[in-house]
Amino acid sequence: MNVAKLKRTVSELMLENRRNSKGFQYTVPSPQSYPYQWFWDSCFHAIIYVRLGQLDDAKKELLALVSKQFKNGMIPHMIYWEKQTRTDFPVVEWGKGDTSTIIQPPMLAYAVWEIYKKEKSKNFLRQIYKPMERFYGYLLEERDLRSHHLISIINPDESGEDDSPRFDIPLGLPPRHSSRKNFARRLELIGKNLSCDFEAKKCMSNFFWVKDVPFNAILVENLSILSRVARELGNEEDALYYASQRKHIVNSMRRLMLENGIFWTVYRLDYKKIKVKTWAMFAPLFARLYTKKQAQVLLEKYLLNTEEFNATYLVPTVSRSDPSYDPRGFWRGPAWMATNWFIYRGLLNYNFEKIAQKVSQSSLALIMKSGFREHFNPETGQGLGAKDFTWGGLVLDMLETV
Ligand code: GLC
Repeated sequence: MNVAKLKRTVSELMLENRRNSKGFQYTVPSPQSYPYQWFWDSCFHAIIYVRLGQLDDAKKELLALVSKQFKNGMIPHMIYWEKQTRTDFPVVEWGKGDTSTIIQPPMLAYAVWEIYKKEKSKNFLRQIYKPMERFYGYLLEERDLRSHHLISIINPDESGEDDSPRFDIPLGLPPRHSSRKNFARRLELIGKNLSCDFEAKKCMSNFFWVKDVPFNAILVENLSILSRVARELGNEEDALYYASQRKHIVNSMRRLMLENGIFWTVYRLDYKKIKVKTWAMFAPLFARLYTKKQAQVLLEKYLLNTEEFNATYLVPTVSRSDPSYDPRGFWRGPAWMATNWFIYRGLLNYNFEKIAQKVSQSSLALIMKSGFREHFNPETGQGLGAKDFTWGGLVLDMLETV
């Protein structure tokens, strides 16, 4: 399939999944499996719309997302615009009625900047700056209990990688367990958080207190963009503030997460490392957190090593050598388009064009073989999970720039 044809297919899929409700427009990740609006999905959608040249749809998507911002600045990871009864998605009660009460990786500034790069007008930046300021302010102020400049998540779902084995230890689960058990643990966590009214500081330290590598790396990159946005809008004071917050997080990540050239997710109040080998070790490439030398070693030892992440199709979310690896398990092995996209972008930051191309070609091959599925078995390329899933559109962003 050439790029023009692929673009048409993606555009059709996005149109099919587009919804209007209560004066807002958004896109559902999959009509049957995920019939609502999700935070980082909407950021991906905005990036995809920019690639399709549909800037208005990109802006509408983000405006719908920020319309449900809480008083404290938090933007919920899920909005139930219209409750659906005949889909596969189990509606969870988060105590807030039409939204959830947790967050997802903070890709908002990145998505806004993609629109700005294309449109060049500052109107949209002005319109969305305040919600962004409040959202990133919430993360920096409410999610850093010990002022150590690492941002915490209070539930695995906040990472966007619900069942990832990175969270087995904090959840008290062994490397092999059923997804039912995993879901039950996460539901328990929601119950506990509900009992303390989702007040972040109170809940975080008591139940699940994890500083995840991708979340923090994504925040680092987004803060540097937010600083640029502030500067574009003539707000030098904010620009300096976000740049300094970014620097603090970078320093803390290096101090508390890095060991022998790998960043590990940490948990508890003593920042214990969770040494489960997942794609998270590549996420810091996205925010340029490794030196070039460290990056080179990381790729040789892990990404290009067939005993680790170099499967038939790139990039498995969990290393083949990790005891939790399951090529069909939800976030426990399969390749996903968003994680491939982060790795691809990260590789380009270091000018590893050839390897980046391997990732984009593998992503394209997965879509050609199995269509727009949620995730893919990295050994066989078989499509798994939701159908008509939008994230496949990110492949456009991996093909245009190489
Ligand atoms: C799943 C994924 C999450 C995504 C959501 C909607 O829960 O784990 O990352 O946001 O589906 O697509």
